[in-house]
Amino acid sequence: MKIRLLVVATIATAFVSIGAMAGMMPPFGSKNDVSYAKNLWQKMEAKGLNSTPSNLYVGGPPHGKVREVLESKIDGKRVIVKRNYRGKNITVKKVAANRAKYLKSVTVMQKRKGYDPADADWFWVKYTPNGAIMKNKKGMSLAGKVAKGKPIGCIACHSAAPGGNFVFRDSGKTSGLGATVFLK
Ligand code: HEC
Repeated sequence: MKIRLLVVATIATAFVSIGAMAGMMPPFGSKNDVSYAKNLWQKMEAKGLNSTPSNLYVGGPPHGKVREVLESKIDGKRVIVKRNYRGKNITVKKVAANRAKYLKSVTVMQKRKGYDPADADWFWVKYTPNGAIMKNKKGMSLAGKVAKGKPIGCIACHSAAPGGNFVFRDSGKTSGLGATVFLK
């Protein structure tokens, strides 16, 4: 009797630990996330998503003050690319004259069916202008489900976008902003 109880208790403990470990696995920044993001950047390059200008506009935090958004499909999946520009006394005019000087980051969402059903199936990534994957203060690469379950980060903030698809610019309320350029 006692042994059986011990066995049951041990198995139960094992399950709880596995569960805890799975819960501790960060939802972003893994090797797989990073290699997926690197591959995605190559495909963005090939498609011209890093070299085609869109319509610049000025927006609020946290993305760079001047921005532009492009959309396309990569491997049949919707991709939204946002270039974020920063700099002293920055204006749309200055950026238009020299994008490379002001580009600070490229934030990207790619729709991946079944990847994250609870949060509209987006893969999130933040690149430097050269395509390196940026990290948070803890040194975690910003690629994957960023930062699922946390009160701040891509997912938390974008969950507030009207329409439930986590895309602010789909709402139509952004019509005053620079229009998105669509690349076939
Ligand atoms: C604090 C809120 C907030 C956080 C955090 C945030 N965003 Fe955004 N994001 C916005 C808002 C608001 C817009 C709408 C466009 C604008 O204001 O320029 C936007 C727009 C975008 C767009 C264009 C599509 C859309 O939703 O309109 C992309 C792509 C994007 N963000 C990616 C990211 C990625 C990747 C991260 C995380 C690394 C991130 N964002 C973090 C608020 C946020």
